[in-house]
Amino acid sequence: MNILGIETSCDETGVALFSRERGLIAHALHSQVDLHSVYGGVVPEIASRDHVRMLLPLIQQVMDEAGLERPDAIAYTAGPGLVGALMVGGGLANGLGLAWDCPVIPIHHMEGHLLATMLEDEPPEYPFLALLVSGGHTMLIAVRELGEYEILGTTLDDAVGEAFDKTAKLLELGYPGGPALAALAERGDDKAYSFPRPMLNKPNLDFSFSGLKTAVMLEIRKLEHSGDIDSCRADIAASFQRAAVDTLVGKATKAAVTEGLNRIVVAGGVGANRLLRSEMARRYPGKVYYPRLEFCTDNGAMIAVAGALRLAEARDATEIRAHARWSLDTLAAPVAA
Ligand code: KG4
Ligand code: ZN
Repeated sequence: MNILGIETSCDETGVALFSRERGLIAHALHSQVDLHSVYGGVVPEIASRDHVRMLLPLIQQVMDEAGLERPDAIAYTAGPGLVGALMVGGGLANGLGLAWDCPVIPIHHMEGHLLATMLEDEPPEYPFLALLVSGGHTMLIAVRELGEYEILGTTLDDAVGEAFDKTAKLLELGYPGGPALAALAERGDDKAYSFPRPMLNKPNLDFSFSGLKTAVMLEIRKLEHSGDIDSCRADIAASFQRAAVDTLVGKATKAAVTEGLNRIVVAGGVGANRLLRSEMARRYPGKVYYPRLEFCTDNGAMIAVAGALRLAEARDATEIRAHARWSLDTLAAPVAA
């Protein structure tokens, strides 16, 4: 059984083929970063148009690489994300489903991130804790089974990836700034500034990153005013990153204790952060699982593997689903359509 996965929820066009018998057989990714960086953020209309431009050629490339005429099912990201961008993937998935006479499977983008570790040689067993950290989400989830998700904590304002991106912008590091900020932080002193660890001492498992972002902004303004900013950028980046990572690891560790879950999956773009990985390894009281680095950020492979796990839900291509908002805890275990 071969499942074609299509991801178009934001600014990456991702396509992959996953075989239930052989695992991942081909994948391709096109990043739109260059198109959006001049605007300092993702422009939805440009994102949709570029998915239109790239999606069919990437599908053709992946099918050729795998030597396949048609897949057995097509999984596509149905949300959450930019509706226009989602419509491109959902529209083409349904069109190809009709042309190839094969069923389609709508996939929740964050479930895709969550299941990306299932592509690895040593996937986690259920139950486990998941820390999903991306540009749009920061969530701690108790994953009891496929589709049985309890959201233990979420961000009350900015997502952690968004905080990285906004701080990077203040430091004039361009868009998306997360990886650039992390690289700059390697050269800085993470104790130079004492930024807040928001919500860390609160008993609940929610996050908040806007206070941290504001504290960094005020410090940068002060340094700009005094003319010292250039020599302090790396220290600011390192101190910000340390505060953000301390908060994530602190809350994840607390969740491990309260939930009694000794396995954790860390996924989503910020899961690529090296300090987060080393601190999680040092402080999390259990085994930590990650997708390989290239599958931490958006990609088609995570959608294809999620489709393979939800194959029971494959349905005739008759409805394009595209949800801007879609809560992960409304999902259920796969049931035959
Ligand atoms: O999962 P993803 O590709 O897209 C969303 O679903 O949002 O995550 C993108 C986010 C961006 O905010 C980006 O700056 C951040 O992940 N990111 C990082 C790193 N690599 C990507 N943040 C911190 N350190 C990194 N190494
Ligand atoms: Zn994502």
